[in-house]
Amino acid sequence: MARGPIVAIDGPAGSGKSTTARLVAEGLGFTYLDTGALYRAVTLHALNLGVDPEDEEGLGRVLREIELHFEPTGAGEGPRLIMNGRDVSEEIRSMRVAASVSAVARSAVVRGSLVDLQREIGRAGGFVVEGRDIGTVVFPDAEIKVFLVADVEQRAERRLGDLRRAGDTEISLEQVRKNLLDRDAIDSGRAIAPLRKAADAVELDTSRLTIAEQVDKVVCFCTSLPTSTPDRSAGSPGEAAPKSRS
Ligand code: CDP
Repeated sequence: MARGPIVAIDGPAGSGKSTTARLVAEGLGFTYLDTGALYRAVTLHALNLGVDPEDEEGLGRVLREIELHFEPTGAGEGPRLIMNGRDVSEEIRSMRVAASVSAVARSAVVRGSLVDLQREIGRAGGFVVEGRDIGTVVFPDAEIKVFLVADVEQRAERRLGDLRRAGDTEISLEQVRKNLLDRDAIDSGRAIAPLRKAADAVELDTSRLTIAEQVDKVVCFCTSLPTSTPDRSAGSPGEAAPKSRS
């Protein structure tokens, strides 16, 4: 059966993917999928068990031990990520996890397992999926592909604000900036599914845009899509619009 549409939003750390993807999904009546949260949860469990990011066998054990799923919440909030029955949505945002996640996300065994899970979650379509390799690897046939970028200074300020709001009063702007740059380097330089703009993605620089402006722009890219998920759609989702061109 033909699937409903997929909107793929990729880009470097702190470029505004999560907020944009969540609000675009709400606006379109689609479901939001945060793939970075899955890599962060595997990293959290590996850290808790003392498994080294270079230890493929150890990471295989970590993957066999964890069950991950998202639970929807009301409008205005993202879904919660549940790992082995426990809500880890806040814990995965810590700097402890951010410092190791890109090393874990380089692993072939981790990527293989999480890409399968992402395809399984999104198989019916009607999703806005956010990550690093969504338009290139996970859903290369996504109907809409957006690549978000922003100045590193802006990205660091935004991420510091997130961490402060979450209660981290210790971290400095310099530490946050360094973490973003380190992750960008590892994510772009890895052998498997590196961070890069798909040839048919539209690039959007969010450095000087408000959240409302960036959401509006992405929603505009999606005007050719059916406005709802396949089940609720009056049209034919299988005949979704052609891909956007940059
Ligand atoms: O929110 P932020 O941009 O800081 O990162 P994230 O989306 O939560 O992703 C955290 C890390 O997971 C990234 O730095 C990548 O190393 C990895 N990741 C990935 O490799 N592939 C994805 N599709 C999503 C995230």
